Amino acid sequence: SAPAVASLSARHPPTAAQPTLDVLSWLDARVKEALVECYGPELRDAPSLVTLATKPDFGDYQCNVAMPLAKQLRSAPRAIAAELSAALRLDGVCEPPEIAGPGFLNLRLTRAFLTSELGKMLADDERCGVAPAAPAQRVVVDYSSPNIAKEMHVGHLRSTILGDTLAKLLEFLGHDVLRLNHVGDWGTQFGMLILHLRDEAPAVLAGEAQLELSDLVQLYKQSKARFDADEAFQRDARAEVVRLQAGDERSLSAWKALVEQSEAAFRQVYETLGVDPRLQTRGESFYNPMLPEVIATLREASLLQESDGAQCVFLDGYKNREGAPQPMIVQKSDGGFMYSTTDLAAVAHRVKVERAQRVLYVTDAGQAQHFQQVFEISRLAGMVPEGVSLEHVPFGLVLSEDGKKFKTRSGETVKLTALLDEALARARADVTARLQAEGREESEEFIAKVSHAVGIGAVKYADLAMNRNSNYKFSFDKMLSLSGNTAPYMLYAYARIRGIERRVAQELGGEGGVQSEEGAVKLLLLEDAELNLARHLLRVGEVVREVERDLLPSKLCEYIFELSSKFNQFYESCPVLQAESAEVQRSRLALCQVTASVLRLNLGLLGMEALEAI
Ligand code: ARG
Repeated sequence: SAPAVASLSARHPPTAAQPTLDVLSWLDARVKEALVECYGPELRDAPSLVTLATKPDFGDYQCNVAMPLAKQLRSAPRAIAAELSAALRLDGVCEPPEIAGPGFLNLRLTRAFLTSELGKMLADDERCGVAPAAPAQRVVVDYSSPNIAKEMHVGHLRSTILGDTLAKLLEFLGHDVLRLNHVGDWGTQFGMLILHLRDEAPAVLAGEAQLELSDLVQLYKQSKARFDADEAFQRDARAEVVRLQAGDERSLSAWKALVEQSEAAFRQVYETLGVDPRLQTRGESFYNPMLPEVIATLREASLLQESDGAQCVFLDGYKNREGAPQPMIVQKSDGGFMYSTTDLAAVAHRVKVERAQRVLYVTDAGQAQHFQQVFEISRLAGMVPEGVSLEHVPFGLVLSEDGKKFKTRSGETVKLTALLDEALARARADVTARLQAEGREESEEFIAKVSHAVGIGAVKYADLAMNRNSNYKFSFDKMLSLSGNTAPYMLYAYARIRGIERRVAQELGGEGGVQSEEGAVKLLLLEDAELNLARHLLRVGEVVREVERDLLPSKLCEYIFELSSKFNQFYESCPVLQAESAEVQRSRLALCQVTASVLRLNLGLLGMEALEAI
């Protein structure tokens, strides 16, 4: 059972974790060296064109630099490849390069290198040899960001899941991450809402009664209808907004009551999803006092232009549907500020006060133009120092299975709490049915834990496994399926490996484990399937760093899906329980262990809980 393995790992000699080599960047540096050595210092900054091998037959990596260089040097590409090959100092990391085709250099990692790197991973259960980024950056991740008095919808769910994973991954790499929830808690709609509630539900404004978020949404709709129909109400609502923005006590406390009730509902969703509790609410209202200064800064930079009484910034290249120039309005004719004004203030605050070097905005792709304009204007206005990167991290729509907008049958937005409840209920039904089929009886605690991991994991994984730029079809059946690139499949894959480890550990009578008394186990990568698994395991750092750059968590999912298939190939062709010798068995057990650690690490980054048994 589980404790056997736990105690075995507890007996591992305390090794200072040593990071594995980032092979791709290491090879890049070696090729650059060779280029300089062969053709002079002018080639120091030439791209090395080292990539992963496009086919396994070509080895592990390939270098494609000889072909473009041939033109430049007026020489034959194969001759250049041969010269580079002779100059490359591969230090036992790769076999001597093979020259192929028109002049590719094929690079294959040596068995000795793979073995020693895997050894480092084995000794580093937590990081699997992945080195922290250097230098570490201060990164702000703006995600989730629902709106007060409105339902949190599937778009916010997507932002929440993506943002939480990106924040985890960046933090894992050692970056200093600030998670900000840019809640829509400010604006003219609060005037009419407060007014309406004074008539309909005064106790709510006084903080003496609680409203369900759905009731609040209902009241919001009613207030909007009144606003559109009744001129006197309209006038009073405008006056209420002015009072609120001026900081009037009574208006503010009414507003606060509304914010608190909405936030309680958001928190419920975050808790069920297991969102990092450090996600800090810093809504639009936070930036309210800074808005006049934004206008002043824009004016000083000569960016402001009046149009129909509104203050606007016109940038080249932005047009509306009719092809007319599309300015960014920063102040309306009545003096009110806009969503964009707040975002400009937020850029300044994040850069100046929070000292962010990288700011990520995780929202639907529909806001791409908004952010493009905000980024461009803030740079033109001198708010953003050189080297600071502002990045919109867009994602596609969430659709229902028939490809239409995601709505309930009656056309309402789907409530996230209801959605998550259904995922949990379906997962529980699946789990119970499987246990019954296997004739297993498990405690309610076990069933609840597994159902939660599977149900919530399924919702998250389905979202993350899809390239975020695509629209994605929400399907309970697909996300809960036991086959394919799904959460249940990955969770079972992990638990199965842990099961194998436990059985082997039992067999070894608690004497063995993968670490012998003298130190690290001797890894024997004898079979192709073992080598292939080892190669894939060693790539984990490369993949994590790739996601750090391009912010596509789907690459983590692809990577672990492939990992589980490489593991299956290994497990089919290399007996672990029936290994031919104790030495081979230890080595294979070690491979199981590294695979499990790498899976656990990735599932953790994806916000999922890896279960020891399922
Ligand atoms: N509240 C906005 C919405 O629901 C998202 C805010 C995103 N963050 C930002 N800084 N604008 O669409």
